[in-house]
Amino acid sequence: MALFNSLSTRTFSQSARMSAAIQNVTVIGSGLMGAGIAQVAAQTGHKVTMVDIDDAAVEKAQKRIGDSIQRIAKKKFGGESAEANKFISDAIGRLTISTDAVSSVGSADLVVEAIVENLDVKKKLFTQLDQAAPSHTIFASNTSSLSIAKIADATNRKDRFGGLHFFNPVPVMKLLEIVRISETSEDTYNAMKTFGKNMGKVSVLCKDNPGFIANRLVVPYLLSAVRMVERGDATTRDVDTALKLGGGFPMGPFELFDHIGIDTLLFVSEHWEKLFPDDQAFKVPPTLTKLVKEGKFGKKSGEGFYKYGN
Ligand code: CAA
Ligand code: NAD
Repeated sequence: MALFNSLSTRTFSQSARMSAAIQNVTVIGSGLMGAGIAQVAAQTGHKVTMVDIDDAAVEKAQKRIGDSIQRIAKKKFGGESAEANKFISDAIGRLTISTDAVSSVGSADLVVEAIVENLDVKKKLFTQLDQAAPSHTIFASNTSSLSIAKIADATNRKDRFGGLHFFNPVPVMKLLEIVRISETSEDTYNAMKTFGKNMGKVSVLCKDNPGFIANRLVVPYLLSAVRMVERGDATTRDVDTALKLGGGFPMGPFELFDHIGIDTLLFVSEHWEKLFPDDQAFKVPPTLTKLVKEGKFGKKSGEGFYKYGN
């Protein structure tokens, strides 16, 4: 798609400047979250490079961003108009895509990582980026469940490391959880807070505990919904209906599984089962393992607990 700039090779000055204002953002991972973070950062005036190792993921992300930004523009400007078109073209013009992470961080003020939920894969990426990024660059992970301190261990910039946990879909959900580890400097924390505000998000400060605030409550709820269906107490559809109509939830738990990605939630629950072996709340329900083995990841793969059309 010619709409987007593409980046194959480029060189950047690696000056070690200290700057609190985040202007250049590199987002690594262009899946559900990376695409959303890149889109909103570009919409709010940042220069953004979005990176993925997978060409097909980049293609999908461009389509998702194109669709989403149209919806945002329509809402913001009340339909098709010159202003709406300018909003879209300005945002797209600030967005560059790449398949090479290392060459994409040379002028970044902030790197937000949103790749697969796996500690070793994230650490490997950050070790490479730590050598390539200027010294002022702040690193953040969008992890749902992993320890920010353990990810930061892969770098020599723990004072410039934190968690920026966005929610899905990023263009709609207002919350940003900011995770501070003991080494995160005041400057870094303030820069992350300002960045969140500039992105239009409301931030809450979290300790580096598993699941931070929201997921620590939501994930055990999701897992117990699966157990309820595994016990034969109710059907998937009835559980979703009950929570939506009886609780005012925008999605039932199984719709939420499919929305987040069952693969991601399996990573989270397997990790937490190891962390809390005696806590029944974190036991992985067999249904999740089965669905992931079958490639049923949710909406993103076309099928999860439910089936989706194109
Ligand atoms: N981009 C832009 N706008 C979008 C959008 C997108 N991707 N998705 C929805 N919207 C907008 C629509 O334009 C629409 O706006 P208006 O009402 O002003 O017209 C509005 O959002 C509602 O959209 P829809 O009518 O299409 O669909 P909906 O009413 O079912 O809402 C939803 C969709 C916002 C996703 C809603 O179902 C919802 O809030 N679901 C719960 C999502 C949730 O819980 N997210 C958090 C997951 S946990 C997480 O993210 C953390 C983790 O680590 C796993
Ligand atoms: P996803 O599966 O949709 O996308 C992940 C992307 O990362 C894929 O496109 C993959 O090709 C790419 N990738 C993998 N390794 C890479 C590497 N080394 N370099 C560059 N790209 C790489 O996943 P997602 O749902 O976007 O989740 C990403 C992160 O955000 C995870 O840590 C997840 O826990 C977290 N998160 C997810 C949600 C959610 O609702 N899905 C919400 C908040 C946070």
